[in-house]
Amino acid sequence: MIEVREVVTDQEWQEYMSIRNVVFVQEQNVSEEDEIDAYEKESTHFIATLDGQPAGTGRFRLKKGFIKFERVATLKKFRGKGIASAIMDLMEKRAKMKHSDYLPAMHAQIDAVSLYAKRGWTPLGAVFDESGIDHQLMVLLPKNTSHLKCLKDPDTPQAVREFLLKFQK
Ligand SMILES: CC(C)(COP(=O)(O)OP(=O)(O)OC[C@H]1O[C@@H](n2cnc3c(N)ncnc32)[C@H](O)[C@@H]1OP(=O)(O)O)[C@@H](O)C(=O)NCCC(=O)NCCS
Repeated sequence: MIEVREVVTDQEWQEYMSIRNVVFVQEQNVSEEDEIDAYEKESTHFIATLDGQPAGTGRFRLKKGFIKFERVATLKKFRGKGIASAIMDLMEKRAKMKHSDYLPAMHAQIDAVSLYAKRGWTPLGAVFDESGIDHQLMVLLPKNTSHLKCLKDPDTPQAVREFLLKFQK
């Protein structure tokens, strides 16, 4: 059984950081300085378990008018079993319930774009490099866009603004 919960205890934190280290630092050669960043404290962190075994991670944080999804990862041996989907389910639900004025956004690794696209996320703008890996900006359009904070922020990227205005309700 897959369970996803917010990281609360020290043990959950150790397990959560260990998965991130294995996937991003050891497997994908991201530097530890990039992997553990200045936003850990302000982020909300989630861990997934499969039959009680720590299996996957994700976090989000508020950044200007956006709620930025980051560090979505599943340990290799647990991939293809719906772990990342379950993590995204909870993070999207939580974002919608608690932070509905913020537009869900992420810098998706290029290989994972189709995973998020299947969930309704839209790729916007050009592919760019981050920590040596090609990334793509993606956003999840809410039903109603007129209340979004990022529409009022002059720093919001033009591609996002144009996309939102097309769907403004
Ligand atoms: C990308 C990753 C998180 C997917 O985790 P996972 O637990 O295997 O994903 P799921 O089992 O929930 O798969 C969800 C869907 O995405 C698809 N999918 C999974 N990984 C994919 C990939 N790399 N490319 C394209 N599609 C993928 C699955 O086939 C599945 O589709 P379906 O629902 O139609 O069957 C995992 O491969 C991983 O940790 N990769 C390394 C780190 C990484 O790239 N993180 C993403 C950062 S943006």
